[in-house]
Amino acid sequence: MRILVVYYSRTGITARACRAIADALEARETPSGQEIEVQIEELVDKKNRDGALGWLRGGKDAATKAETEIEPTKTRPEDFDLVVLGTPVWAGTCAPAVRTYCTREAQNLPMVAFVATMGGRGDAGAFRDMQQLTGRQPVATLSLIDKAVRAERQDDYLAKVDHFADELLTALSAD
Ligand SMILES: Cc1cc2nc3c(=O)[nH]c(=O)nc-3n(C[C@H](O)[C@H](O)[C@H](O)COP(=O)(O)O)c2cc1C
Repeated sequence: MRILVVYYSRTGITARACRAIADALEARETPSGQEIEVQIEELVDKKNRDGALGWLRGGKDAATKAETEIEPTKTRPEDFDLVVLGTPVWAGTCAPAVRTYCTREAQNLPMVAFVATMGGRGDAGAFRDMQQLTGRQPVATLSLIDKAVRAERQDDYLAKVDHFADELLTALSAD
């Protein structure tokens, strides 16, 4: 089974969460004993999102549901059984780089699952938009608060990651 974890991350939170998900998946095998191969693809936004100005422009682009230009990607989603799409919540939706990827790859995506990291709220809007853009209903979603990911609180964040990995395996096995 091949799983692709694709994410955008401005300050490393979504990257950290997605790497933990990849690790959790790699530590498992499917109920039928099949090995799981995970690849990670980080989306790079060509627009500078650094600093206060980058934050403001990013918020505006997200709020207006604008797309952006992203660096070419190295993987092809159609080569995988499942694609996990990770985004930080920006202005109640997904980051522009993830919006662009969802639109561009909509026709090439297999089964999908969504991950959002956020300060407090907005995951529902991000997932709704990602579902609409990809035309795919996610087999599972995972929402994480940035502080929990940063602190790696064992009781909360890693347990949620483990549960999410189990959900993904169940979906893959049922397919
Ligand atoms: C432009 C911008 C807009 C944001 N909007 C929201 C929001 O609407 N709701 C929220 O809970 N967090 C919001 N955040 C906080 C991020 O979603 C959160 O810190 C996230 O975990 C950062 O992930 P990253 O380090 O992978 O970029 C926003 C952050 C930025 C930069």
